[in-house]
Amino acid sequence: MRTPSRWTLRRRLVVVLVALVAVVALGMGAVSALALRGSLVTQVDEQLSAANGRAANASMRFPPGDATTNPGGGDDRPSPGNLAPGQGINTINLFKLDDVVRADYIDEDGQRQYLDDDQSATLLAVPQDSHAHPVTLGDLGTYRAMSTTTGDGAVVVTALPTTALTSTVTRFVVVEIVVGVLALLVAATVGLVLVRRELRPLDRMAATATRVSRLPLDRGEVVLAERVAEQDTDPSTEVGQVGSALNQLLGHVSAALTARHESESQVRQFVADASHELRTPLASIRGYAELVRRSPEVLPDGAVTSLSRIESEAARMTGLVEDMLLLARLDAGRTLETEPVDLGMLAIDAVGDAHAAGRDHQWRLDLPDVEHDAEPVVVGDEHRLRQVFANLLANARLHTPPGTTVTVQVRTVGPDVEVRVTDDGPGIPEELRDRLFQRFTRGDESRTRGTGSTGLGLAIVDAVVGAHAGTITADPGPDGGTTFTVRLPAA
Ligand SMILES: Nc1ncnc2c1ncn2[C@@H]1O[C@H](COP(=O)(O)OP(=O)(O)OP(=O)(O)O)[C@@H](O)[C@H]1O
Ligand SMILES: [Mg+2]
Repeated sequence: MRTPSRWTLRRRLVVVLVALVAVVALGMGAVSALALRGSLVTQVDEQLSAANGRAANASMRFPPGDATTNPGGGDDRPSPGNLAPGQGINTINLFKLDDVVRADYIDEDGQRQYLDDDQSATLLAVPQDSHAHPVTLGDLGTYRAMSTTTGDGAVVVTALPTTALTSTVTRFVVVEIVVGVLALLVAATVGLVLVRRELRPLDRMAATATRVSRLPLDRGEVVLAERVAEQDTDPSTEVGQVGSALNQLLGHVSAALTARHESESQVRQFVADASHELRTPLASIRGYAELVRRSPEVLPDGAVTSLSRIESEAARMTGLVEDMLLLARLDAGRTLETEPVDLGMLAIDAVGDAHAAGRDHQWRLDLPDVEHDAEPVVVGDEHRLRQVFANLLANARLHTPPGTTVTVQVRTVGPDVEVRVTDDGPGIPEELRDRLFQRFTRGDESRTRGTGSTGLGLAIVDAVVGAHAGTITADPGPDGGTTFTVRLPAA
């Protein structure tokens, strides 16, 4: 059971509404029942006062001379109060003079009924102050009683039954409870329907926000067309204000994303253009340098070495420019070739090349069994995928010491083809791990400078794999080295 603070707004509103109605109904019911009882009691007391007055007068007019002739009580003659004209049925009158007590009433059938001693004693205990007091007379029930003394010392007590009063109040309370419960049911039902209806726009807004949250907003050109419907954006209601604020937010985000995309495109275009433009002069530099180097006889001493440095640096720069151009094109979402590519074949070629380039390393190849396993074929751009292998193997060669064993494993895993390049070298430096696939991330500057490292290799691998809807991860290898795992959807 969830705590009230975690209830839905709907439930909370309905519960609050029902609680309010209950409190109001309870308050009104209690107040009106008390008021009703009060006014009924006042009515009875007025009648009581009149009856007591009549009884007192009658007692004066009929001095109970018999009292002296019949001492010691046990008197079953009527009390003078009940002989007075105007006394109603069920009106109890008690008369006491000296030791003589007479107490009786006329019942519904017109029969005179006498009170027993206990009942008489109860009535005699009522203070003789001419005020009404509640009393309970055994089986007879509850009464209001008033007691007075007459001039000759007689005590006259009159009592009127309150049974009718009590049953009227009880009936009123029962009706009130029934009506109250009905009102609560109606409040709960109507409240639920109304609250549901009023909050439905919030559901629609939440749905809009959820749809937006699922849009791929992190890259490329983003079209943020989702908006809250017109009907839910009325600024004169609170919910509408939320809707219209959400729309403003979406509009703002959409504009910002468009602006961001435009400026990114400009930068990308600039890099692409610059790289492209640099290719021709670089090719010329290399060409001329080679030309001059081939006629060493006309060159002064030392110039040949400088020229070969010029050539190699120009070659390195060409590589860098090519990498930047490729990244700019992949960023721009340039469509790739889509042809079936056998990654097993690419692995064989790549390991062959790596073996030639790095004779101090051990190169191992682990390919699927042609007889049993599915062929590791993916659909993509062969040229780019070759580059993935080349970059990963170049890293395994350049960033590990001689003698390192590098294993390239290709296999089919479920719907994917998986390529693992594992080495038992020193592993990726700790400080690089978080941004390994970002551009220009490279290890120890002095060493990488020497090897002509730029830090674009893994960024290109990541971009190419991403363009093929694949994933790449780098993990510490089993023997302390590094394992790069590339997964691409199988053809
Ligand atoms: N197998 C590996 N073992 C240890 N360190 C590695 C390995 N592969 C990559 N690294 C580290 O990650 C860094 C980034 O690699 P990346 O291929 O992106 O750039 P680079 O090799 O330095 O330069 P480039 O590939 O552009 O010539 C490297 O500089 C190196 O420090
Ligand atoms: Mg590299």
